Amino acid sequence: MKDAQPRAIYLKDYQAPDYWIDTTDLTFDLFEDHALVTSVLGLRRNEDRGQDTPDLTLVGIDLELVSVFIDGSELTSDQYILGSESLTVPVTRLSFSLTVVTRIRPQENTSLEGLYKSNGMFCTQCEAEGFRKITYYLDRPDVMSKFTTKVIADRGRYPVLLSNGNDIARGEFEGGRHWVTWKDPFKKPSYLFALVGGDLEMVEDSFTTMNGREVALRIFTESHNIDKCDHAMLSLKKSMKWDEEVYGREYDLDIFMIVAVDHFNMGAMENKGLNIFNSSCVLASPDTATDASYQRIEAIVAHEYFHNWSGNRVTCRDWFQLSLKEGFTVFRDAEFSADMNSRGVKRIADAAIMKTAQFAEDAGPMAHPIRPQSFIEISNFYTLTVYEKGCEVVRMIQTIVGEHHFRKGSDLYFERFDGKAATCEDFVKAMEEASGVDLSQFRHWYNQAGTPVVTVTDSFDQASGRYLLTIAQSCPATPGQETKLPFHIPVAVALLDKDGKALPLNEAGETERVLHVTAAEDTWTFEGLTEKPLPSILRNFSAPVRVKYDYRREDLVFLMKYDSDSYNRWDAGQRLATAVIEDLVDGQLKDKETAIDSRLVDAFGVVLADEELDKAVKAEMLKLPSEASLAEQAEEIHPLQICESRSRVRKAIAEAHKDKLLELYQTLHLKGEYRPQAGDIAKRTLRNICLGYLVELEDDSLQQLAEDQYKNASNMTDLRAAMGAVINSSFQSRETIDSLLNDYLDRYKDDAVVMDSWFMLQSSSPSLGTLEHLRSLQEHESFDRTSPNKLRALLGGFTSGNMKQFHSGTGEGYEFLADWIITLDKQNPQIASRLMTPLTRWKKYQPAIRERMRKALERIKAVPDLSADIYEVVTKSL
Ligand code: TRP
Ligand code: ZN
Repeated sequence: MKDAQPRAIYLKDYQAPDYWIDTTDLTFDLFEDHALVTSVLGLRRNEDRGQDTPDLTLVGIDLELVSVFIDGSELTSDQYILGSESLTVPVTRLSFSLTVVTRIRPQENTSLEGLYKSNGMFCTQCEAEGFRKITYYLDRPDVMSKFTTKVIADRGRYPVLLSNGNDIARGEFEGGRHWVTWKDPFKKPSYLFALVGGDLEMVEDSFTTMNGREVALRIFTESHNIDKCDHAMLSLKKSMKWDEEVYGREYDLDIFMIVAVDHFNMGAMENKGLNIFNSSCVLASPDTATDASYQRIEAIVAHEYFHNWSGNRVTCRDWFQLSLKEGFTVFRDAEFSADMNSRGVKRIADAAIMKTAQFAEDAGPMAHPIRPQSFIEISNFYTLTVYEKGCEVVRMIQTIVGEHHFRKGSDLYFERFDGKAATCEDFVKAMEEASGVDLSQFRHWYNQAGTPVVTVTDSFDQASGRYLLTIAQSCPATPGQETKLPFHIPVAVALLDKDGKALPLNEAGETERVLHVTAAEDTWTFEGLTEKPLPSILRNFSAPVRVKYDYRREDLVFLMKYDSDSYNRWDAGQRLATAVIEDLVDGQLKDKETAIDSRLVDAFGVVLADEELDKAVKAEMLKLPSEASLAEQAEEIHPLQICESRSRVRKAIAEAHKDKLLELYQTLHLKGEYRPQAGDIAKRTLRNICLGYLVELEDDSLQQLAEDQYKNASNMTDLRAAMGAVINSSFQSRETIDSLLNDYLDRYKDDAVVMDSWFMLQSSSPSLGTLEHLRSLQEHESFDRTSPNKLRALLGGFTSGNMKQFHSGTGEGYEFLADWIITLDKQNPQIASRLMTPLTRWKKYQPAIRERMRKALERIKAVPDLSADIYEVVTKSL
């Protein structure tokens, strides 16, 4: 029996544990229908909490208790209390050993939390609170223990047995079973525990650390994927080197392992010395992975590796501090990616995610500060806010204290908290101490949810040559937070003269200044100007805020041409496009014929023709704001009008610049071997963007381009882009589309990762991805309803990537999603909860849609025995 109604827990109620667990000795006996887990815990009273010996309560979920021993003597059932999710034992000594034997059923575990099976292999996922599904434990991150793990299994089926640390012993038993013992010399919380057992192959390499220690690097996969690990291995070595060079952090064990598994709820997991990855975040070959996947793999390998310091050596005191490790680690991986590839484009891509998806989260019913004050289910807080906004908060600290002090601060933080569980406050204090900069007001970023709005007005006095820039800030109310205190917002600005040159802003001739906005309103004065400049505001997206400034459309065109800051140059284009598309949406709603503002179409022509512009930035600038981004910025969302208006603008751009698009398409053709390098990636991206525009035109020869590209593609990037162009074109016959889809299926049906895209391409297609089509796809033999990747491809592609079909009709799409959520909640609540997100944004839609979305949510809410995951999101959303 579960608790009747899940309850919230609060940061303010944090208490240190009554007991520490110094050592954890685990034995796993793995069988085909169950596993026996023997846990021997070396416990010690936390004397900060008293000298007495209160009862010890451990948590456990879905466990069958077999036996309990204290200091070697077995307890009878009247000597302990077995709760539905707990085990309480009496304590008489300050130090004692507790042995608990439990039986679990990994084969029946569909939640992909705890110990489970994926394609016949045993694997674990313990973050955040999955270890309690393995054995009774103090499953909280401030309890750090030294783990020893013995794994016993059938040798034939599971030749490879892995856990954290170093393998210290192995042997054989009669009857074909074998065992391996792993010992992790570093203390760690239970969420970093991992175990893998399977028939796996490995690729091996090594890395010599800055102090000359040799580390064995191993990546494990099923044998048919063994040739797709090179890129992940290369990424790992680059990450290890980068963390030494940029943060002075050296790897600490003699071995570092990565295991790829097909069934995984998230991207990857940083278990100590034994990272477990979603296959889609490891496996790559030119023939199967796109440029985007290559870059994603590099970033995620780095992210998990960087956690070894920011997360594992220094961990979180409690889950409210999640952003301590995630925000910082995302910042670290973002800087790594920027160093490895194009810095400007990385910044644009990250800002785009913030502005479309994180701002939407901040404006929705689940809005929370990067350090939440309460939660019902922690899994619901692995969010864009904790990760991406958390990263932006760390970045702002770096901007405020400067790079040099930031590094001093991180050194101090790592040194002071090595081997300990820390808080966000500890991190900020270390930065403050190392830099001498007061971050008191800055701390509001940790407590207040919502996206601040920065409103900029300016004036120029010709006579005095004085330019005044007034910046006001405000922050909308969020659930539980009606009013907010002013933030400390670093706003980077430059002033452009009428030739587009940035003016010097001080004696040193610097052309960019960071304005520290701390008051509700403040004014900055710039002297000695001869004309009114055009401000370039929030350069490099210096803070996660919305900027309001009354740019005329000519100003935006001007910034698109001249701003030396790539992010702002891109943002100017996005603002202009958004305004123009909004005109059309308005027109449709008022039944008024509206022409497309030619300034946008012309500006895109200028971008296309700009020879100086970095190709990677050019590619970004040629993308119209996504439907999701337009929805995020709308007062009230009219999805069908957004889709139609956006697509009208695309066609207009294609029509006006057909020749230039075609010329670029032809000249950018790359010959030779595929390389996933920034320069080549930029060319392919730009070329495929051109293709996307060209197929908007009703012209057989252009339609043929896409088909030919599919047929002649020598890498997955070009193949996938061509497929997308064909599928999404209104001028392609169903026969052509089907023949390409069948061809893809034939080639890739045995590759689960590649097949994810086959589903996604269809579910997200405005023409193909109808409900009827989705219903047939979910019965397809390559579909797997136990695979989160497949569910994300089919359902996520439809509900988040296919605005037109999801919102068409009279709410059938919402009911379809609700049916799935109800089913999935029993199987995998984490995935169910994530996939439900689009419905939770119902309040922003036009009234008829709003009502239908609400009804679907109400139906979910009425289902008995909802998981805590769904319960929390559904009750907060309604
Ligand atoms: N700590 C992981 C990361 O950010 C996230 C993660 C992996 C996770 N698997 C999970 C979080 C399952 C919650 C549940 O790298
Ligand atoms: Zn992480």
